[in-house]
Amino acid sequence: MKLAGKVAIVTGAASGLGFATACGLAAAGASIAAFDLDAERMERLHDEIDPARLMLCAGSVTDEADVGAALDAMVRHYGAVHIAVNCAGVADAAKTLAKGEPFPLAVWNKVIAINLTGTFNVIRLAAVKMADNVPDEEGERGVIVNTSSGAAWQGQIGQAAYSASKAGVMGLTLPVARDLAPHGIRVVSIAPGLFDTSMVAGMPEHVTRSIIERMVLFPHRMGRAEEFAALVGTIIENVYFNATTISLDAGARMSVR
Ligand SMILES: NC(=O)c1ccc[n+]([C@@H]2O[C@H](COP(=O)([O-])OP(=O)(O)OC[C@H]3O[C@@H](n4cnc5c(N)ncnc54)[C@H](O)[C@@H]3O)[C@@H](O)[C@H]2O)c1
Repeated sequence: MKLAGKVAIVTGAASGLGFATACGLAAAGASIAAFDLDAERMERLHDEIDPARLMLCAGSVTDEADVGAALDAMVRHYGAVHIAVNCAGVADAAKTLAKGEPFPLAVWNKVIAINLTGTFNVIRLAAVKMADNVPDEEGERGVIVNTSSGAAWQGQIGQAAYSASKAGVMGLTLPVARDLAPHGIRVVSIAPGLFDTSMVAGMPEHVTRSIIERMVLFPHRMGRAEEFAALVGTIIENVYFNATTISLDAGARMSVR
């Protein structure tokens, strides 16, 4: 699908990978509905994207009404929804057992609700809009890109909920792509390694340094959000990507901690 003239919703667009993706897709000619809980931080997109091709939608990916309202607004303002990129996520961590206390169920439920259920909520509601599009010359009506993580299969200490949520995203990729293929909609997930965003800024410096020095193969640095955004653009423009999860991690292999 050519990006120029298309309409994309990008969740988690106030920060990190989502922010860079919103900017990258806009630079390639798409109109953007930026969706995030953090309405104030999302305002920074006004400095990067032509206001005629930017809508800011505040809300939670876990909320049917918030996501539905954003998609309805996209159809009203831009006439269609062609692309959905799921970047909203949280990385709350806890050990399964620590100092005699079990993993707090509230933390588990929050991470699963946002990372997994939230991603699926956006997918299912966006698919309804995409199915209304007139197919292009390839028969394509829409593209959905999700964010999994290397933690899906190599989670570290404290990442039970996060890893489960990201394995869930990887797991849903094939069946959802199978469900949506008859509608001309592709579904691809990206499993990033360690990227330099606010999420990682919350980790202790010795932890990120240890990951870069011991676990990242080459190049020895964190990923740049623009590198993630570039892969999203490639997936959208190359119609032969479908039903798979692609690692973007400089060959990283995570160890226990
Ligand atoms: N940074 C990394 O190293 C890394 C690695 C692997 C996967 N990921 C995944 O990439 C995605 C983006 O992460 P990031 O590094 O850009 O983090 P980030 O913290 O910079 O951005 C995440 C954004 O999601 C938003 N968000 C959180 N809960 C939300 C909700 N309920 N509804 C709407 N928006 C919500 C936040 O407000 C924030 O703007 C996440 O899914 C994360 O798990 C990141």
